[in-house]
Amino acid sequence: METVASKAALGAALAASRARRERIALVPTMGALHEGHLALVDAARRCASRVVMSIFVNPLQFAPHEDFAAYPRTLDRDAALARDRGVDILFTPSVAEMYPAAARVAVTPVRRDDGSALDARWEGAARPGHFAGVLTVVAKLLHLASPDVALFGRKDLQQVTLIRAMARDLDFPVEIVTVPTVRAPDGLALSSRNAYLSAAERAQALAIPRALRAMHRAWTADGRADAGRVTEIGRAVLAEEPAVAVEYLGVADADTLEPIATVAEGAVAMIAARVGRTRLIDNIVFERAEAPGPDPRMNR
Ligand code: PAJ
Repeated sequence: METVASKAALGAALAASRARRERIALVPTMGALHEGHLALVDAARRCASRVVMSIFVNPLQFAPHEDFAAYPRTLDRDAALARDRGVDILFTPSVAEMYPAAARVAVTPVRRDDGSALDARWEGAARPGHFAGVLTVVAKLLHLASPDVALFGRKDLQQVTLIRAMARDLDFPVEIVTVPTVRAPDGLALSSRNAYLSAAERAQALAIPRALRAMHRAWTADGRADAGRVTEIGRAVLAEEPAVAVEYLGVADADTLEPIATVAEGAVAMIAARVGRTRLIDNIVFERAEAPGPDPRMNR
């Protein structure tokens, strides 16, 4: 594995692959790698011959009160994990390398005349400006690595939905692949922010996947279930764990991310909640073929 920290060195590292017309995959991350990130690498290796991973804690996507400074940075460990999993090129730029001058242009979601926007709800509403920061850095990374394919996790469903829309609307010549959510054996979605949880909080946080599973079960029992009723079932599960403070919980259309009245196949339940000082997000896709059943690892 070659580790490069400058844009120029990344370009040089990729030049030979480009000359050989190798298929290049990009896996953008903020590091503190876990099996969720590494599942993206596995998927990348299945669809490309050269895998580039970026590790960059992007200041643009953190609000001033958020955890940019505290975000876990474990570069040596990350590099070893990436290498062992088959990453070919690790791109670890500094903030100064990525943003050498104060920017005058950024990529932001469109707000339509009717008020709808892919960032109007859920994470977009809870974290104003967050997705402009994500889209801007991902646009830059896609230009720098010019991969054939870029891989993102369904764990951050609104993020990958927006990135897919950016690639389509702005004609990025890249295929965007979504990888299912990787969970711990107890059902908690893996996240770099899980490192913030105490043992007690970690146990309390299990109410989040439990609520999503209960919502999925309510839907499979009903076929077409009323979204309000399904959401209430999730809320009831969460109410049993008062340490979990729900920020939002709802059911949305997977393409528009707009709330829906009836849960149909392919819809998603979206949740954000605080456990202590840690903010966690998760979601589940209502899919009959992959109903969670008794296996706590769930489907997505
Ligand atoms: P980060 O949170 O490090 O996540 C990097 C990628 O890993 C994202 O595509 C995310 O969805 C995916 N991921 C995280 N946890 C996962 C899990 N449990 N299962 C499957 N995939 C998972 O998301 C970001 O970084 C940043 O916003 C980024 C896209 C890198 C832009 O800065």
